[in-house]
Amino acid sequence: MKGQIALLPGDGIGPEIVAEAEKVLRAIAKTFGHHFGYRTGHIGGIAIDKTGKALPRETLDACRASDAILLGAVGGPRWDGNDVRPESGLLGLRKELGLYANLRPVRGWAGLEKASPLKAERMREVDLLFVRELTGGIYFGEPRVEGRERALDTMVYTEPEVRRIVRKAFELAKLRKKHVTSIDKANVLASMRLWRKVATHEATKHEGVTLEHQLVDSAAMRLVTDPGSFDVVVAPNLFGDILSDEGAAITGTLGLLPSASLGDGGPGLYEPIHGSAPDIAGQGKANPAATILSVAMMMRYAFDLPREADVIEAAVAETLWEGVLTPDLGGSATTGEMGDAICERLAKVAG
Ligand code: NAD
Ligand code: IPM
Ligand code: MN
Repeated sequence: MKGQIALLPGDGIGPEIVAEAEKVLRAIAKTFGHHFGYRTGHIGGIAIDKTGKALPRETLDACRASDAILLGAVGGPRWDGNDVRPESGLLGLRKELGLYANLRPVRGWAGLEKASPLKAERMREVDLLFVRELTGGIYFGEPRVEGRERALDTMVYTEPEVRRIVRKAFELAKLRKKHVTSIDKANVLASMRLWRKVATHEATKHEGVTLEHQLVDSAAMRLVTDPGSFDVVVAPNLFGDILSDEGAAITGTLGLLPSASLGDGGPGLYEPIHGSAPDIAGQGKANPAATILSVAMMMRYAFDLPREADVIEAAVAETLWEGVLTPDLGGSATTGEMGDAICERLAKVAG
């Protein structure tokens, strides 16, 4: 297998965690005889510092010329007062590449019971997949600042936008427990009544998959009280963003949740769901697992290498089970030690 991968480390802990993911990519290439070529690009705050733009042309070109993109994180307090925000680089990349489907799988990992705020038996049941709409909704409305005392954002969804993300959720549910929960706020918002109507209609085309609707506020509650009752959870952009951080927290840490952002063809974007963690940047404390698990998703979706994906996930599972844990999980391993531990186990698991 040959493949081109664009690496966009970004800001804060981004470079530290992407370095560990690169180790895993090299270990996979070596173990399985693949050849990955790498191009590194700037995005976010570092790109603003170097070029004045959060998503420079050459970064976008490098991404378009690759089979997959691995991103660390963008943003940080240094750029908070800026007119050009680091986050706009990431939003621009998602939009430019048409990456409307953001897959965020959450599972309870054995060995992390103490790190989770949930009861152990409840945490172990967690196995769900968020399918977050990523290129529409309030993130891509018409923001306006009107003088010093009024500012507004608009939330728009169109029927085709809702249909394609809900369809993706149904297709993914067929490979899992065949149950879709569609999240909305149809009791208040017109755009969400459209969302519910389109989801209901799409369900009629997917025999064997059940659909339920749930309002986002009570879904946030159920995620804590009965997370094992979810299978695929399809959500509008903003609600998916919020619920997936909650989903990460119930299993122990933000540092374990990977994601894949996919469109209809073209390179996908693979990134942890967490941010640049400015509070721990540069200290070797960041958990690299979410980024490494994003590499597993890349193997599965970009390169159609499910065995390689399984091997990475098994190596992470063993590492966690054996207690090699970064501080977010109550351990004292450094970012590099955890990356190395995963690589060591990877060779054994593949063995
Ligand atoms: P954050 O996700 O960066 O951090 C929240 C908390 O989780 C912090 O205490 C942090 O230390 C911890 N944490 C996050 N990732 C971790 C990891 N891998 N290992 C250990 N601990 C980890 O969220 P925030 O503090 O609200 O945002 C900081 C910046 O990141 C902001 O500028 C925000 O816009 C940006 N951000 C970027 C992305 C992205 O690039 N995809 C995602 C979310 C936030
Ligand atoms: C995420 C982040 C981004 C989002 C920000 C940084 C634009 O929170 O990837 O979850 O809100 O989508
Ligand atoms: Mn987020």
